[in-house]
Amino acid sequence: MSDTPLVEMRNIEKRFGGVHAVDNVSVDLYPGEVVGVLGHNGAGKSCLMKILSGAMPLDGGEIRVNGEPTEIENPRDAMAYGIETIYQTLALADNLNAPANLFLGREMKTRWGTLNDDAMEAEARKVLHRLNPNFTNINDAVRTMSGGQRQVVAIARAIYFNAKILIMDEPTAALGPSETKMVADLTTQLRSEGIGIFLISHDMHDVFDLCDRIVVMKNGHCVGAHRIEEVSKDDVLSLIIAGQLPEGWSPRNGGGRA
Ligand SMILES: Nc1ncnc2c1ncn2[C@@H]1O[C@H](COP(=O)(O)OP(=O)(O)OP(=O)(O)O)[C@@H](O)[C@H]1O
Ligand SMILES: [Mg+2]
Repeated sequence: MSDTPLVEMRNIEKRFGGVHAVDNVSVDLYPGEVVGVLGHNGAGKSCLMKILSGAMPLDGGEIRVNGEPTEIENPRDAMAYGIETIYQTLALADNLNAPANLFLGREMKTRWGTLNDDAMEAEARKVLHRLNPNFTNINDAVRTMSGGQRQVVAIARAIYFNAKILIMDEPTAALGPSETKMVADLTTQLRSEGIGIFLISHDMHDVFDLCDRIVVMKNGHCVGAHRIEEVSKDDVLSLIIAGQLPEGWSPRNGGGRA
């Protein structure tokens, strides 16, 4: 792992009237790392990630990317830093095919300024095939595709534009077991390519399968940051529910940097 974090979020604050949605939260993300962002409904997970993706302005704190201070005011700013988001409600255009979704808003043009459909199809075929060699029906409307295929299109859309930092908000919530496994394999593949991933998940199995580290939020606070090897599922549930580790807790496997 490299020494400079891809992302450093420092003392992040977000308020809505009397609700302190994110309260002085700091998290890091290193290249080739999956960090789970956990917590009950309303804990502040999505707000924290929306601040990073430019979907929500912060009220306080600082975000560094590759050690450099950033000003992320909208999703376009975030994308320029290589930050892409895959939302639970996949933001795909149902009536368009996979290539059109991949390039939506960032279309390839010919030198006469018209849409370059052939080039977009060829590029889409390359990236989709890399993610899933069985993905052949790329010219169908995505509305007719399986949940897993739609997820592949959403991930392809993110990585085609050179995402270095991927935010996945409940990526397997709507998927069946084999599709969940496919997305899990894909997550592992992206991580091995050096991409850093923030994974919001309620699924303990996914969390323990995929994450290198976890941060747990409760009522806007960060109540724990741990390497996955040093905690059990019960420890994590205790952090989520009670906001603290069980009494007398000590790290499993000796602990390490968290
Ligand atoms: N746009 C908004 N306007 C007002 N309050 C908001 C807004 N977005 C979030 N909140 C509040 O901020 C708090 C944190 O919400 P957030 O969506 O980050 O929770 P979450 O941890 O993602 O929960 P879930 O697991 O249900 O997705 C909640 O109290 C929520 O009601
Ligand atoms: Mg949420």
